[in-house]
Amino acid sequence: MLKLGILGLGEGRSTMSAALKSDKLELKMACDMNEALCKQRAKEFDFHHFTTSYQEMLDDSGIDIIGIYTPDHLHAQHIKLAFEYGKHVVCTKPLIDDLSVANELLDLSNKTGKKLFVGQSSRFFEPMKRQRSDFEKGLIGDLVTVEAYYHADHRWFLGKGWSLQDSFKWLYGGLSHPVDLVRWYLPDLEEVMGYGMLSSNGKKGGLKNEDTMHFIFKAKDGRIAWVSGAYSGPVQPQTRDSEMSCVLRGTEGCSQGDYMDLRYAITTNTGEEQIITFDHKLKHYFRFEGKSHHAGEYQNYLEYFVDCIENGKTAYPDLKEGINTVVVMQAMDRSLQTGKPEKIEFIT
Ligand SMILES: NC(=O)c1ccc[n+]([C@@H]2O[C@H](COP(=O)([O-])OP(=O)(O)OC[C@H]3O[C@@H](n4cnc5c(N)ncnc54)[C@H](O)[C@@H]3O)[C@@H](O)[C@H]2O)c1
Repeated sequence: MLKLGILGLGEGRSTMSAALKSDKLELKMACDMNEALCKQRAKEFDFHHFTTSYQEMLDDSGIDIIGIYTPDHLHAQHIKLAFEYGKHVVCTKPLIDDLSVANELLDLSNKTGKKLFVGQSSRFFEPMKRQRSDFEKGLIGDLVTVEAYYHADHRWFLGKGWSLQDSFKWLYGGLSHPVDLVRWYLPDLEEVMGYGMLSSNGKKGGLKNEDTMHFIFKAKDGRIAWVSGAYSGPVQPQTRDSEMSCVLRGTEGCSQGDYMDLRYAITTNTGEEQIITFDHKLKHYFRFEGKSHHAGEYQNYLEYFVDCIENGKTAYPDLKEGINTVVVMQAMDRSLQTGKPEKIEFIT
């Protein structure tokens, strides 16, 4: 059975829960430089193989996969080390925030034969999984347009010191989810433009970059899509509006995956309208602290990655797809600065 080491035990807590519940992989070690946090997690999960040194986890030849859950700006260096020590990698979103290391990471993955899978958790949530499978069955016909958003009151997140640094951007930390959903359906984006602003709540909380943004995209074949994100204010009740949502409008039907309420709706070419909820899976997805953490998706994606490695298949989003999503976000970033549409030039 493949063995996992987890780096960073804030959100890595969900991955610990996921790995400990799964019978497809084994949690071998967990690491955080904060020893008190290691102790807290040891007690919470009654799991006691901890280290405060990433090097110790890298040196452990019994670990096959490293799961990276450190602050955004550290992902690139932690991925690089994992490859250099011959490990497969699961890295949370946003994969990287600086494209200067992209080719080096691709070369390292090719040279070592080790795989990277981006932990784009939203794809692995029940309504989004169902939406994808209905789309693949052709229930909405040919796709016309995609609308995806992630709006959340993340003022609590500003308690983390790194979120107040110049390097932290909700463009990467938040919009990476809906941008990934758009790319899942429209991979060949060509151009983007958008507006963004730092709200008064965000400014008051100490944020340095935009916390409120709307973008539109154009794909090479002319189809269009939009995403939006707002992170420093109250949101609608979940029965009215999910914090994260993806709408697909097709030639024959329309579907919507709603994250928070585990809700999915579809109108098919028969004219039939269905709203499906997955209440029986609430306990799988949400295991602690209400709905702000969602370990079930992490279990779904870890098991998918393990299946792919064991069967010699590629787990998506892989390193190249993840890097190209960062290419899109960098073009979005440029558009915020120039106020103009920006070209998206993918790495091939
Ligand atoms: N849905 C999702 O996929 C999702 C949800 C939340 C957070 N995240 C991502 O998870 C990452 C971490 O976010 P968070 O909220 O847990 O932040 P956090 O600050 O709570 O946790 C990061 C942890 O990494 C540890 N760390 C940093 N450098 C280290 C090193 N060199 N060695 C060992 N430990 C180290 C810190 O001590 C800290 O405990 C971010 O990239 C974030 O975007 C993803």
